[in-house]
Parts: sequence; structure tokens; C-alpha cells
Amino acid sequence: MKVLNYINNLFWLGVPDILKGLALSLLFIYIFKNAIKKHSTIFYIYPGLMFFWYCTYGILNLMNVNLYDQIGETIWWELLWLPHSLALDTVIGLAFIMIVMFIGVLPKWKFVRQLFIIRKEMSIIGGLLLIGHGVMRLPTMKWAWENLTDMNVFLFFSYAILGVILLVLIFIPWITSFHFARKRISARDWKKLQTYTSVPLMVLICVFGIAINLGWGFSNFSGFGTDLWEATTIPDGSAVSNLAQGYGVATAFLSAKIYLVLLVSYVWLRILKTKKQSFPIQKSYVQTQESNNEGVLSVK
Ligand code: HEM
Repeated sequence: MKVLNYINNLFWLGVPDILKGLALSLLFIYIFKNAIKKHSTIFYIYPGLMFFWYCTYGILNLMNVNLYDQIGETIWWELLWLPHSLALDTVIGLAFIMIVMFIGVLPKWKFVRQLFIIRKEMSIIGGLLLIGHGVMRLPTMKWAWENLTDMNVFLFFSYAILGVILLVLIFIPWITSFHFARKRISARDWKKLQTYTSVPLMVLICVFGIAINLGWGFSNFSGFGTDLWEATTIPDGSAVSNLAQGYGVATAFLSAKIYLVLLVSYVWLRILKTKKQSFPIQKSYVQTQESNNEGVLSVK
């Protein structure tokens, strides 16, 4: 574990988690895109196990069964939470879903067309990780409602309200994309459902990323106006440099800005795409190019 932490810190200390997720996911997809297409089931196994573990943990926790008490701080416990301890679970799921969303609005460059081939598979992997994250965090939502005075408005908004909205928003297009659910809905209604849930999903994911990171930033460092080089005297009399909190705060605020950039870019590209589609001459071209690609979380 120490070695893994060492490597993780060496590469990623100070890098916002979402950038880490995007960089690792793009690299993974670049290396394995052909294998993902050919043997997709193999690539669902690990995210599927994580989904199962996170859902079990979250649901039992809601029913006041704490698995930590049963398993204890063993090597198994550490292994079960390893992706979470290295901050690799949520952000990898986010990165897969964001890539799916962005290739839906980017011009059809060569690499975008290559990624389109595994769009369904990326949706399944991202959905498994993020739905697992949401269910695992349901006890956090409950805790936030019970302790609302203990946190700032950004954290309350994300933990107590937005998280569960996102969980519903990602679950609907994800589950209705599977063949068994898809065949029960008409093609037109299915397409509408996908578009009306996936665009708000992408926008709200970024809003969540901004809110949670601002929340962490402000809660870590309440004396935001003070000089970071100053030292504060803590109750035991020792002096603590504000820079200690400054590092975490800086990373959190940088993360919030990255989510803002992702949000603005996505909305801008989507508006461009909608405008382009409204030109009658180009419409038939765009439709033939994209007839199967509107549903963002489309899973046959
Ligand atoms: C009840 C539902 C949810 C709650 C209470 C919740 C809470 C949390 C918490 C505590 C974190 C920080 C630690 C971690 O990664 O686990 C987090 C991260 C995050 N979650 Fe959730 N979450 C929920 C559902 C969701 C869903 C369904 C999505 C997306 C579809 C989502 C998007 C995010 C984002 C964007 C981050 C920030 C990751 C980062 O930049 O480090 N959350 N959430």
C-alpha cells in the first residue's frame, strides 16, 4: 500500500482529481479501445464488482449495518476501498461519461470517430461506477440532512440535494438504454428521454463538481482573506502555518475552475451543434452521420 501511495503522490499530488481521471481514462481508452470493442464483457467485470460492493455497502449502511464493524481494518477492507483511497473511482466514472458526452458535441474528427465505436461500452463502465458511487453515498446524503448546520451551503447543496438528483438523472438513461428496457419504449420516446436526461446530467455534474470543490475549499480554510504565510496559534500553543491548509484549498479551487471550463465548453459546443443542425441544407447530412448517436448513454 505504501508503494502505491508513494506512486500516487509522486504523479498526482496537487493535480485536481478530475484531471487525473480524464488523463488516465483517455490513456486507458487509447491503449485498449480495440480490446474493449472485441471483449467488452471482460472490461465490465471490475466496474461491475465495484458497483456491487458500493451498492451493498451503501444500502446496508442506510439500514444501520456497518460493514466496517464486521470486516475490520484488514487487508481485504483496504483492497475493497483501494480505488476510492487513491481517488480513482468517482473521477474515472466521471471521465468515461464526460468523454461520451463530449464526443456527442465535438466535430467528427478522426479520434472522435474512433471513440464513437466504443461509446456504448464507455457508457456502461461510467454508469456502473457513478451509480455505485451515488448509492454508496446515500448515507452521506442522510447524514447531511441530519447535520445541516455543520456544513457550508456549497457542501449542503451538493451532498444533500444535487447528489441524489444526479443519481436519478444518470440512472434513467442508463437503465433504459439496455436492450430489455429499450424494446418497451418507442424509438421516438426513447430518443427524447435520452436527450432530455443526458444534457441536464452533464450540466449538473459540472455544477456538482464546482459546488463540492468550493465547499471543501471554504470549509478547509475559513480565514480565506488571511495571508497564507501567516501562522495561527492553535489551542496547544503551537504555531501552524496557513500554508498547510492553503495547499488543499488551492487544489479544491483549481478543481472548481476546471469543472467550470468543462461546463462552458460543453454548453458552447452543444449550442454550436444545435445551430448547425437547424440549417436545412446540412440537416440531412448531419442526420445520416449521427442517426444512431443522439442518445448519449445509448446502450443497445
Ligand atoms: C446521494 C448521492 C450522492 C452524494 C451524497 C454524493 C457525495 C459525494 C462525495 C462525498 C464526494 C467526494 C468523495 C468521493 O469521491 O466519494 C463526491 C464526489 C463527486 N461526486 Fe458525488 N455524490 C452523490 C452522487 C453522485 C452522482 C450520481 C454523480 C454523477 C453522476 C456525482 C458526481 C460527483 C462529482 C462530480 C464529484 C467530485 C469529484 C472530484 O472532483 O473529486 N455524485 N460526491
